[in-house]
Amino acid sequence: MKKLSDIITEEMQKAFKGAGYDEKYARVTLSNRPDLCEYQCNGAMAAAKEYHKTPVMIAEEVTALLADSQVVEDVQAVKPGFINLKVNGKYLSDYLNRMCEDDRMGYEKAENPRTVIIDYGGPNVAKPLHVGHLRSAIIGESVKRIVRFAGHKVIGDVHLGDWGLQMGLIITELKERKPKLPYFDENYEGEYPKEAPFTIAELEEIYPSASKRSKEDEAYKEQAMQATFELQQGRRGYQALLKHILNISVTDLKKNYADLNVEFDLWKGESDAQPYIPDMVQKMRDEGFAYTSEGALVVDIKEESDTKEVPPCMILKSDGASLYTTTDLATIVERMKLYHPDEIVYVVDKRQEMHFIQVFRCAKKCGLADEHTVFKFLGFGTMNGKDGKPFKTRDGGVMRLEYLLSDINEEMLKKIRESRPMSEDEAGEIAKVVGLSAVKYGDLSNQASKDYIFDVERFTSSEGNTGPYILYTIVRIKSILKKYEEAGGDAKAALIPTFENESEKALMLEIARFGSVMENACEELAPHKICAYIYGLANAFNKFYHETSILGTEEEAQKGGRIRLLMLVKQVLETCIDLLGFEAPERM
Ligand code: ARG
Repeated sequence: MKKLSDIITEEMQKAFKGAGYDEKYARVTLSNRPDLCEYQCNGAMAAAKEYHKTPVMIAEEVTALLADSQVVEDVQAVKPGFINLKVNGKYLSDYLNRMCEDDRMGYEKAENPRTVIIDYGGPNVAKPLHVGHLRSAIIGESVKRIVRFAGHKVIGDVHLGDWGLQMGLIITELKERKPKLPYFDENYEGEYPKEAPFTIAELEEIYPSASKRSKEDEAYKEQAMQATFELQQGRRGYQALLKHILNISVTDLKKNYADLNVEFDLWKGESDAQPYIPDMVQKMRDEGFAYTSEGALVVDIKEESDTKEVPPCMILKSDGASLYTTTDLATIVERMKLYHPDEIVYVVDKRQEMHFIQVFRCAKKCGLADEHTVFKFLGFGTMNGKDGKPFKTRDGGVMRLEYLLSDINEEMLKKIRESRPMSEDEAGEIAKVVGLSAVKYGDLSNQASKDYIFDVERFTSSEGNTGPYILYTIVRIKSILKKYEEAGGDAKAALIPTFENESEKALMLEIARFGSVMENACEELAPHKICAYIYGLANAFNKFYHETSILGTEEEAQKGGRIRLLMLVKQVLETCIDLLGFEAPERM
């Protein structure tokens, strides 16, 4: 099924051609003056240059040919040369009826599906999730769903941070506390226990205290670095500890992510890429890309067009240790080998942009990826508190994700309880679902690269551009549909009638845009475009709802048709919020 804007453009192309002009000028876009028209074409302005005529003359000739169109009406040539138009009402309702028949609501699947890896989440093992990881999880999950819905093969990878000094720190601290454990005995040759020698609560306490001590105690830090080195060299006992740390952490992380409606296809981490490093480094040396500079192994990646300094990409430090960059490069090698992606998207804090510029260039230069493989960095801004500074707890510490979510839930619960009487259990359940919409929509409705202010009060409000407002709208539709069904109605096969009033047409036009919006959101990896769309759609629905008594529609067929229209609105809204990563409750 074609997009409505494409159908209108084709009409316009016929007219341009008929009047003797190149059809490349016929592109039609949504009007930016909705008070004047619904769609517009600005091509006459450009055509004027080629054909040496005034734009308005061209616009008038084209307009004349659209007088009998079945698709558009009210076509007007306006000075200096715009063509303004409206969609034919009958055509519009027919289009919506076709959307009803189509389980993708007119949004066609990608013709050439690509394999796309989305690298998001990026939590660090043994460290608690903090709000910095929240954005990556929320945005990455939405992008994953959007690209998958477009018909591509999408693989979401959490890419755990499981290979740094934090591992050595944990091992060192554990050794201090429980030196008798077999993991520390170099002569131990038996099997290691299946059970981990710590719980998640202990693990979360061990890391911060080790980290603190390493900052005050040089010798301790040395030990931790040594432990990290030995772990990376494959020391058996430490490898076994790493497994325990990973198991315990991943179980806990999965629970946390499930609460956020975030799900990964792969639970790989930095440590999985390590086996690929030696061969990769050898290849870089052999092919002459990597050279030694001040003891370190580096690859030059400067480009002439650079406006800012791009330092060489460091592959190995002078002591032979690998770096964050090395791991990300080796991960590319691993991903190419295992999944052959056409595209890899990294959803990471925008402050890491330079790191990724280096990684992408180096990977391309050294031929680690296919020629056609596309790397994209989707860098996001900081989530700030009301004071405009990065979000902190009241005592100034790094805000943990759980606390932040429970703050939102508390506020949501208060609002839900005020709305109508219900049991505590029900209120709790609803608060959880609606609270998640508040957090996610609050984040996703901003362009990802921008910083934003986390405002519990505003995000949880049921009015304005918020998640709860969208959910209220869906719940309102559900309740109308339920009343209709309870009265014995069945509108599944009903036909949406031609609009009767302006707010009904405005609603129909919004619905018909679904395919274009999805396509654009996928192209630009931009969940905020979906937010803007459903906010407009919800507004259009609510306006229609206030002006029209839907269940009171006199004529039975028209009533059924309007109910069918509501079903379509609901389907569009529910599809969209699913792509954003949250859902609507039955009642609120
Ligand atoms: N673990 C990293 C951090 O907390 C994020 C990882 C991002 N992904 C990547 N491939 N480097 O900063």
